[in-house]
Amino acid sequence: MPLRSLVQRNFIVISNQMSHPILTKAARLQVLGKSPASLYLRLNKRIWERLPSRVRDSYSLHSYGAWLHTLVCLTARRQQHFGTFFLRNRPALELMRRLVRQRDHGSTLRIAVLGCSIGPEVYSILWIIRSARPDLKVRLDAVDISKEILNFAEKGTYTPDCSQLVGASIFERLTEAEMAEMFDCDGDQATVKSWLREGITWHLRDAADPELMRILGPQDMVVASNFLCHMAQADAEKCLRNVARLVSPGGYLFVSGVDLDIRTKVALDLGWEPVPELIKEIHNGDPSVRADWPWQWWGLEPLNRRRHDWRTRYAVSFRIVSSQLQ
Ligand SMILES: C[S@@+](CC[C@H](N)C(=O)[O-])C[C@H]1O[C@@H](n2cnc3c(N)ncnc32)[C@H](O)[C@@H]1O
Repeated sequence: MPLRSLVQRNFIVISNQMSHPILTKAARLQVLGKSPASLYLRLNKRIWERLPSRVRDSYSLHSYGAWLHTLVCLTARRQQHFGTFFLRNRPALELMRRLVRQRDHGSTLRIAVLGCSIGPEVYSILWIIRSARPDLKVRLDAVDISKEILNFAEKGTYTPDCSQLVGASIFERLTEAEMAEMFDCDGDQATVKSWLREGITWHLRDAADPELMRILGPQDMVVASNFLCHMAQADAEKCLRNVARLVSPGGYLFVSGVDLDIRTKVALDLGWEPVPELIKEIHNGDPSVRADWPWQWWGLEPLNRRRHDWRTRYAVSFRIVSSQLQ
């Protein structure tokens, strides 16, 4: 699907308006062509940015921030993004590395990465896993809904233009030593090394497609990062349930960049076991989303251990105990 039509298709005005009908009306209200809600948010943002970080990080401010974030989501126009980075969330990659430690010597590991954008997440996962366990036969299915984006991913050759295409500086989280391990560089062109490009099948598909399970087959690890938050709530929940069906019993699902209420609801409904290891580090592991709360709709709230459901709410990784039928 061409980039422009994908963006238009995914231009969602106010995703969670169904759950807050009165607040939605208030958020949309225009007085003399101006939005009082936007003015209120702008004023709050100015004050918020002047507060000392110890005050901003207090639990009482978190509750107020959560209210502001709800309003931000109601006034926002959600748009699909392609933004991605190499080694985007290091603690999440570290957890993947630890989870594969337990695999039998020489066994096959099946991984699916959904919403893979131009590929940095795919190659980062393969780099971590193949460096730690060169004996494993890793088979990775990478899925994206955009053909143009997928073509870049498959080539694995990156120039400064790629960062422009996805609106993010894809190499900014890599050290020079990591660059040298992952790429063959020629001028301003960096090509992913061949040992990291092996064993990948690229699929032009919608992650919400019910046929996905038949096409990809059962997986030991499924990764769905930073695309569900761009969808309307009901679509995101349906898509998440579809994605979870891919995980074999005993396998792991990594899901981030999704409305936390939706993830918690589906996790509790389907009896997923949150993985406690590195939970806080992974939650805070992608600076671009944590720093944007509460002012952007993709912003991620601070981890709040006072919530009774905090282990499920803030886990990114879940062990799937039985086959997911819903
Ligand atoms: C913001 S990027 C995230 C890339 C990567 N997962 C990461 O976290 O760095 C979102 C990607 O998801 C893709 N996408 C959006 N909706 C999708 C869907 N329904 N099925 C498959 N891919 C989708 C977009 O084309 C885009 O490349």
